[in-house]
Amino acid sequence: MHFELSEEHLAVRDAARDFAQNVLKPGVIERDREQRFPAEEIKQLGELGFLGMMVDPKYGGGGMDTISYVLAMEEISKIDASTSVVMSVNNSLVCWGLETFGTEAQKEKYLKPLAKGEIIGAFCLSEPEAGSDATSQRTTAIDQGDHYLLNGTKNWITNGGTASVYLVMAQTDASKGHKGINCLIVEKGMEGFQVGAKEDKLGIRGSDTHTLMFQDVRVPKENRIGDDGFGFTFAMKTLSGGRIGIASQALGIASGAYELALAYSKERSAFGKPIHQHQAVAFKLADMATEIEAARLLCLKAAWLKDQHLNYDQASAMAKVFSSEVAMKTTVEAVQVHGGYGYVKEYHVERLMRDAKITQIYEGTSEVQRIVISRGVLKG
Ligand code: CAA
Repeated sequence: MHFELSEEHLAVRDAARDFAQNVLKPGVIERDREQRFPAEEIKQLGELGFLGMMVDPKYGGGGMDTISYVLAMEEISKIDASTSVVMSVNNSLVCWGLETFGTEAQKEKYLKPLAKGEIIGAFCLSEPEAGSDATSQRTTAIDQGDHYLLNGTKNWITNGGTASVYLVMAQTDASKGHKGINCLIVEKGMEGFQVGAKEDKLGIRGSDTHTLMFQDVRVPKENRIGDDGFGFTFAMKTLSGGRIGIASQALGIASGAYELALAYSKERSAFGKPIHQHQAVAFKLADMATEIEAARLLCLKAAWLKDQHLNYDQASAMAKVFSSEVAMKTTVEAVQVHGGYGYVKEYHVERLMRDAKITQIYEGTSEVQRIVISRGVLKG
């Protein structure tokens, strides 16, 4: 076992760090204030290959491993979690799902432009009455021979307004429970598909979260992913990898807040010395550094397991629950280290604190992660 990153990994991390510092940082406060989607920044991220990082180059991707993805997600999230959630959904939910389970025709038509970042995608599982309880899908996809008729509502959909391609889970045969669910590829512009109002959120305010409505949308049969009834398994398998992305996002939010607190503690003096020389602050920094390192190791372990084609369901849930709790705790403490300055937008830490909260909620709440972990633990 060794813990060193390769030259290639370091190069990916540095490229993501440069992009975050030079391109994302200058406008991040305004985008958050104005709830403005980072359209230009996402375009550039795509051109750099960060929207289809792990996709095979023959489909327009970067052919990188999951460890590279974790490193890049951490760097982008240190600065702008509204941008990194777009990156996470596109990479690990949409591209991975299509590449792993899609047909050649689906990959040609949808995966290629998604992996190149020419368009972005969305993953649509949550419903007004089916969040954590994902088997209770109310959206229906009725088999009509050569197409499905899709009806229902999805909510909390990241990239809801800006995506061109949507992977939509829907119930085809309720009598079969979760085995009657399908995943359909829906295109923006299909008749009967409407994007609802944008959510006004506490954090990740630059990201684009919408309710989606489907009324008698005719989705061709060739747009189903996998065999009939594969939709729930598809969603679970895809979310397992997605959780590595969100765990890395949480890690980045935590390490971004820590770096700001550390720098501030060296600049700011009180009672005759820099505040980091007061044990009250030094111990906070020590705890932050330790917990962030533990979160990073969990993220990298889950990524490594995925890269080795070993089971990573439990590892990704552990990485997500731990990293998101570290993100919440670290950002609160980073605001505290900054005192009053931490409470104003100019210093960035209040935004990171607001952004941290969602990592305990989306792609499975902390409670859902504990369900996954405890079932694994009990199975032995
Ligand atoms: N891989 C393959 N199959 C899996 C699986 C996995 N990782 N996890 C579960 N399954 C299978 C089970 O084996 C079971 O199949 P069988 O009946 O054939 O054995 C079936 O799926 C049902 O599983 P459970 O009995 O475990 O289902 P459950 O109802 O108890 O729920 C749950 C389990 C873990 C809570 C699940 O419902 C879940 O993950 N919920 C959270 C959903 C979620 O993360 N939503 C977020 C939406 S995405 C998002 O946030 C969008 C965004 O834009 C960022």
